[in-house]
Amino acid sequence: MTALDKINAPPTRLSGTALYDWDYLVQEDRAHRLIYTDPAIFEAEMTNIFGGTWTYLAHESEIPNNNDFITRRLGLRPLIVVRDGDGKIRALYNRCTHRGTTLCRWDKGNSKSFQCPYHGWNFLNTGKLRGVPWPDGYAEDMRDPKYNIAQVPRVESYRGFIFVTLNMDALPLVAHLGPIAKVIDEWLDRNPGGKVVVCEANRFRYRGNWKLAYDNSCDGYHVAYSHRSLLETENRFAGENAKGMAYYRNSPDTQAMYMRYTGHGNHFKDKRPNLEKRPGGLWALESAHPGMEHYEAEFIRRYGDRAFALLDLAGSEPVNINVFPNFSLLGNHIQVFEPIGVEETNAIWYGTMIVDDGHVPADAITDINALRMRTQEGFPNFGEVDDIANFEQIQRGLMALEDEWVYMNRGFGIPGRIKTNDDGTITAPATDEAFMREHFKEWKRLMKARPNLAIQREP
Ligand code: FES
Ligand SMILES: [Fe+2]
Repeated sequence: MTALDKINAPPTRLSGTALYDWDYLVQEDRAHRLIYTDPAIFEAEMTNIFGGTWTYLAHESEIPNNNDFITRRLGLRPLIVVRDGDGKIRALYNRCTHRGTTLCRWDKGNSKSFQCPYHGWNFLNTGKLRGVPWPDGYAEDMRDPKYNIAQVPRVESYRGFIFVTLNMDALPLVAHLGPIAKVIDEWLDRNPGGKVVVCEANRFRYRGNWKLAYDNSCDGYHVAYSHRSLLETENRFAGENAKGMAYYRNSPDTQAMYMRYTGHGNHFKDKRPNLEKRPGGLWALESAHPGMEHYEAEFIRRYGDRAFALLDLAGSEPVNINVFPNFSLLGNHIQVFEPIGVEETNAIWYGTMIVDDGHVPADAITDINALRMRTQEGFPNFGEVDDIANFEQIQRGLMALEDEWVYMNRGFGIPGRIKTNDDGTITAPATDEAFMREHFKEWKRLMKARPNLAIQREP
């Protein structure tokens, strides 16, 4: 019996995950501290979640040319994401088939092959073993496919966003995304040509469970408190003209923004209804950054009536789109959560640039991207640090063993507060924890399932 057979075998009394009572650990309005602290549950998540469902890996613009590669992870599995010589995107296990060392130790590059640093086995970027040093030393036929690099069997992109799963029974990616795909479309379509290109990242690591980040991804309740210093800074700069996240002041429940759950653990928080619908509406909300007045004056001088529509391209889109378990679009960023251990997580913020589609003057593209760099610095540097402090302090708080429950019951049980729409999506006020209750139903469904996991190798 292979390890994969064992993972896929029906539960027995002794098989790890069957020992947990998932319905007890995650209830309608609360979750048990163990799901954030137990190493065995973390290990089960690495197969049932980061393996059992679609997980975001990378953006196609990070490997634009044939033979480009980047290294990433799927749960704890090290991967090489490569565009091979025929342009096909593959997710190769970054693991030599000889004795198991990682093959590629670079973050990115361009190469037709990978040579193992240990004994020099050499692999094509299709995953095929190309040759080994002194092959006469082997009695066996080294062309046996078992020596080709393992790869993730299902790699699909949605408009440039590359997702993968090991689960042969998972729905096709588009069906899995369902209604959240339309919101991703809207996020992309406001950019020239409906595209963005990914820039280098702002990288954070925190000492806490990965789910703490996803639990916060749609949380409109914490903003006025956790990000108070940021709100005060923005508003001190902006005077009477409240900027940035100012719409969280007063009572955020009475604002036009809302949260929607779209299924499969995915949700978005939509602050767009708070915007003034006019060219420059988004730009007007952008908080103060060094140099922005200069750009604004220069755009008005150069582009006249068109200036504010162009400046909107540098403004942050006021919607947070979250695809379970590890992907968020917020403002102009792509944020990715990478579990490192039960109490350690990477939170990586990739900035994005717009590209020339022939309709925006070339010098405006350059200036908008320079300005986007400024607007994209704000939140990760002044907001994410607040969130990470919370995640680390939650992890500490959860070490109080006897106090077992985490509550997610805001908005729960209030008649008429949460609406189920005709398409099955769920709408609630932006401060409710409805999103969390819903993504935990998906988490529980996946943890109870016996996913049909597989790898493949070139024949
Ligand atoms: S471990 Fe890679 S060649 Fe030996
Ligand atoms: Fe936050």
